[in-house]
Amino acid sequence: MMALFIRAITAALIAIFVIGCTSTPQQSLYEEIGGHQTLNTIYGVAITRIYTDPVIGHYFKGVPKKHLRDRLVTQTCELIGGPCEYDGKSMVESHTGLGIKEREFYILVEYVQGAMRDVGLTYQQENRILNKLAPIKYETIYL
Ligand code: HEM
Repeated sequence: MMALFIRAITAALIAIFVIGCTSTPQQSLYEEIGGHQTLNTIYGVAITRIYTDPVIGHYFKGVPKKHLRDRLVTQTCELIGGPCEYDGKSMVESHTGLGIKEREFYILVEYVQGAMRDVGLTYQQENRILNKLAPIKYETIYL
């Protein structure tokens, strides 16, 4: 009886060990898309377009490109499972007083989406990132 019990425990332990060794750890979306370098390229491309857009470009007058780019990279990195910690201003704080309209929000998002496509992300990766950005909408508009 005891021997049977020990055998069962041993089998269970071996199973756990084997499963633990063979299953690869879940890769984060951040790693999957190529980490910091990819995000930095995406936001570099998007920001060039955002700053020159006829409708929303004016909001960014006087906002240093590098500052915004670095903040966006860190924020998205954190949102998609990367090793970053966003320590910039809160979304409400940085957008209060701007009076951004909903349609203007979508203009910006489309630039980010276009940049993701241009650097070769899949639709699925693109949507997974956009899903993380979507709730932020309510912290940026009509403030
Ligand atoms: C998902 C949408 C958005 C995200 C994730 C986002 C994110 C950010 C971040 C991380 C910052 C930097 C905060 C800091 O300096 O610490 C910022 C600042 C800023 N954002 Fe947004 N934003 C979004 C939408 C928008 C939209 C739609 C506009 C305008 C059309 C806009 C205009 C600005 C401006 C002008 C600043 C600079 C504010 C300042 O330095 O005084 N943002 N945003």
